[in-house]
Amino acid sequence: MAVRKFNYEFDGVHYYRFSIYRLGSNVQTVYTFIVDDLLIDTAQRYNRENILKVAQQHAVKKIILTHHHEDHTGNVAFLMNELKIDAYAHPNAVKILGKGYRMSPLAKLMNGSVEKATLKPIAENDIIETEHYSLQPIYTPGHCDDHYCYYEKNKGWLFSGDLYVADKIKYFANYESLLTQIESIKKLVALDFDVLFCSHNPKTHGGKQRLKNKLQFFEDFAGTVTSYYEQGHNARQIFALMGMKENYVNKYLTLGSFCAENMVHSVVRDLKNRK
Ligand SMILES: [Fe+2]
Repeated sequence: MAVRKFNYEFDGVHYYRFSIYRLGSNVQTVYTFIVDDLLIDTAQRYNRENILKVAQQHAVKKIILTHHHEDHTGNVAFLMNELKIDAYAHPNAVKILGKGYRMSPLAKLMNGSVEKATLKPIAENDIIETEHYSLQPIYTPGHCDDHYCYYEKNKGWLFSGDLYVADKIKYFANYESLLTQIESIKKLVALDFDVLFCSHNPKTHGGKQRLKNKLQFFEDFAGTVTSYYEQGHNARQIFALMGMKENYVNKYLTLGSFCAENMVHSVVRDLKNRK
């Protein structure tokens, strides 16, 4: 059996792939990144021992989070306690993890629960300095409202959390806003970078073009939904008119909170709200 690589290095950034397997299949992969002694995101709770080893090996002194989702924060409280270090995030993430993050039963089953954590808030103008690098938080809502990307201007690196993932996507969570993601991606493509350290699909070259591809896909999608909406169609009709296909396993297992139709619902909801 082939053993898949799980540790990578590019231009001084060390990054690690953490997967979760159920019934012998990989059901989720996430990456965490290490810049000098700074750890970006903390992987799923079920990878606790692995992320601890990685953090110890790199003598991690500080954690920053891209957002509150369980595949990024599953070990933040544990690592803070174990290593006696602080963790920083957007003020909305500080609130969510401070109160305790309520997860769906399926998310809990997949990733394990996320413990409460007392994080420290950072603002966009709070530059995070390490020995060799400077990272600027960039507020990029749309996937969720506490999402930061981190930009290393001198190196041309963008740690993009969950904003890219792929050039084209097929499914959306019910809380996501496609139009807000378009605005966030526009903010990012105005920056100078080539490396896209995406939390699920890192690209060490041509990263800005990948993000532009995603922007184009979203703009085309939103444009089509908008024109059907203006002709008087509702979200369900638009979904059918666009010839989109549902993944009913996703839809029913998540009680409709993660499915293809949510992409159309997201645009229609925003069009109604923005009128
Ligand atoms: Fe996420």
